[in-house]
Amino acid sequence: MSVDLRDLYQEIILDHSRSPRNSGRLEQPSGEARGNNPLCGDRITVQVRLEGERVADVRFEARGCAISVASASMMTEMVKGKDVAEAKTIFEDFVARVTGSDEDDEPGELSALMGVRKFPARVKCATLPWHAFDAALEGGGEITTE
Ligand code: FES
Repeated sequence: MSVDLRDLYQEIILDHSRSPRNSGRLEQPSGEARGNNPLCGDRITVQVRLEGERVADVRFEARGCAISVASASMMTEMVKGKDVAEAKTIFEDFVARVTGSDEDDEPGELSALMGVRKFPARVKCATLPWHAFDAALEGGGEITTE
């Protein structure tokens, strides 16, 4: 990876972690899930509001590292307004990408997070909000990254 691209990815992560999109709480969520990362003790809560089969709104509150907050912020932008089935596909694709070793990745903002693949502990930081989102779609609960 070129130095320029690495700088760009670093900038994207910093931007999302410093100015997270869709952070906060919803008035009347359809589902809420808490995610715990046992490696560091960080926590994230994700709320969703469904309208029929559409993810009408999604918010999160995080006490976590820059990677987890940036990942949560990007996730909300990607799934908001999508059908539930489409949002689940986005979730599954992201987890497959970030836990895989395929260096030939499709470009896009989420590519900024793929640097964690070399660091298994940081993979959990990136996937935590996504697993919490998936659990919130299912009605809520508490999940722990394994
Ligand atoms: Fe705790 Fe990243 S170090 S979520």
